[in-house]
Amino acid sequence: MPRNIIDVTDLTVEEINELIATAEDIIASPAKYQAACAHKQLATLFFEPSTRTRLSFESAMLALGGSVLGFSEAASSSTAKGETVGDTVHTVSCYADIIAMRHPKEGAPFAAAQFSEVPIINAGDGGHNHPTQTLTDLLTIHREKGRLDGFTIGFCGDLKFGRTVHSLVNALSRYENIRFVLISPMELKLPRYVKEEALKKRGIPYEQTDSLDAVMPKLDILYMTRVQKERFFNEEDYLRLKDSYILTPEKLENAKADLSILHPLPRVNEISVAVDRDPRAAYWKQVKNGKFIRMALIMKLLDIQV
Ligand code: CP
Repeated sequence: MPRNIIDVTDLTVEEINELIATAEDIIASPAKYQAACAHKQLATLFFEPSTRTRLSFESAMLALGGSVLGFSEAASSSTAKGETVGDTVHTVSCYADIIAMRHPKEGAPFAAAQFSEVPIINAGDGGHNHPTQTLTDLLTIHREKGRLDGFTIGFCGDLKFGRTVHSLVNALSRYENIRFVLISPMELKLPRYVKEEALKKRGIPYEQTDSLDAVMPKLDILYMTRVQKERFFNEEDYLRLKDSYILTPEKLENAKADLSILHPLPRVNEISVAVDRDPRAAYWKQVKNGKFIRMALIMKLLDIQV
């Protein structure tokens, strides 16, 4: 059976730490890795839109000397003729050595993996999980803070539908002494199942609030998120909630001097462009880190050592 990454807990903490170390080495010595995946092929199967995840996966494989194939919308594949996801993935696994797949349905990559002859990486499934964004976030936190334990992190915005939040809460709950502050409107609170599995089961204390201003001074990391328009059933609700939080330079006046501001992107309106000039803004570095950690993950799943 190939090794799949469907959920961030498919990797042990030790494996995540090793991936971060490999990514750091790639950043320091990229030339060492330029032929690591020569003659290997990555397929990117994106049934849902993406800029960063798909292109960073493809850029990662090209930087490793491999090649890429795939599609960026379901309409250009035989899905449009009624082919099942299982048959599509089975087919592509005959052509590629590894597959990164995004799908709007929760659980689709897990189901598809049952039909694959090669490793499947979940590149985002509906409002559920996004494990490689979490690896990107962890690498960014490690580079900004020098550690992955002993800090207070605030998650702000759409914690209900934000799959990057679910995966990162799950991952960080396995590190020591992390304090979680969950900032959202009532309607967009972190789902009960994430709180139960990641926080309550491990006895990790957390606080929930709707006021970013009230908790800003205590945060070491602020993880902003977009309100996920595509997951709403009702446009009226989206319009009412979409601007619940807008981070501006003024809002940061009470923040710590060494705060790190993360956002998985894309952003819509929740971080003003003026914040980009703040040295605490780490989200553009986060974008770059996504390529390096995916390089490390591809090598791991293909069992390639350099
Ligand atoms: N962070 C992220 O998943 O971005 P894309 O939707 O552009 O891939």
